[in-house]
Amino acid sequence: MRQHVNPLSQFFQLPLSLPNKNLLFSKSHYPIHIDIGSAKGEFLIALATKYTDWNFMGLEIREPLVRMSEKKRKKLELDNLKFLFCNVNVSLDEWLSDLDCGQLKRVSIQFPDPWFKRKHFKRRVLNINLLQSIAKNMSKDGEIFIQSDIFKLFESMTNMIDKSRYFNRKDEGNFRFLDKNPYDSMTDRELLSLKKNLPIYRVIYTRNSMLFVD
Ligand SMILES: C[S@@+](CC[C@H](N)C(=O)[O-])C[C@H]1O[C@@H](n2cnc3c(N)ncnc32)[C@H](O)[C@@H]1O
Repeated sequence: MRQHVNPLSQFFQLPLSLPNKNLLFSKSHYPIHIDIGSAKGEFLIALATKYTDWNFMGLEIREPLVRMSEKKRKKLELDNLKFLFCNVNVSLDEWLSDLDCGQLKRVSIQFPDPWFKRKHFKRRVLNINLLQSIAKNMSKDGEIFIQSDIFKLFESMTNMIDKSRYFNRKDEGNFRFLDKNPYDSMTDRELLSLKKNLPIYRVIYTRNSMLFVD
């Protein structure tokens, strides 16, 4: 399977539709946690098993990983979890506006692809348009969790979020990184970074309720 795909290639520019939200989850009114770049899905599988009063949605641009994650989900009969193929930078804004107001409570972006070369920065998943879509469609107590083992990338994401004023850092600006994943589960990449003894930078933001009217 390919390690990376270019999200800007023509193939990934076609907007996809969100399956009927009443068919996505058996209890469609539960709060939603979206994991962007869910890869093999283990992080959300663990959460969905433990937190049965939440719905979880894993979004991933590499379709074979989505098929693989969905196969595991079905085997475990988890009806509060769904893995969906999409380029979030193309489809997510429309999908979020289809959800009921206030339903989106959490978004996680964990170890996003760094795209190190400056000319590739525009392939990075978190950009201001995505951030705005999340902020405007999120419940007013909603939160966004970011983690990475690459400080430069982490810093560029947090600078963008701080500057946008759509969210406030939960650490109230004292820049203390969380020392573990706040959701009682870990991603594959997180486990690998821990095994390699790499530093991990983590932060939670809450939506700035002053900026949008619910
Ligand atoms: C480095 S991996 C990290 C995977 C997982 N979050 C973890 O921590 O183990 C980043 C993931 O984001 C996915 N991704 C990158 N750009 C995306 C986009 N525009 N839309 C959806 N998924 C994307 C990649 O395919 C990849 O699986």
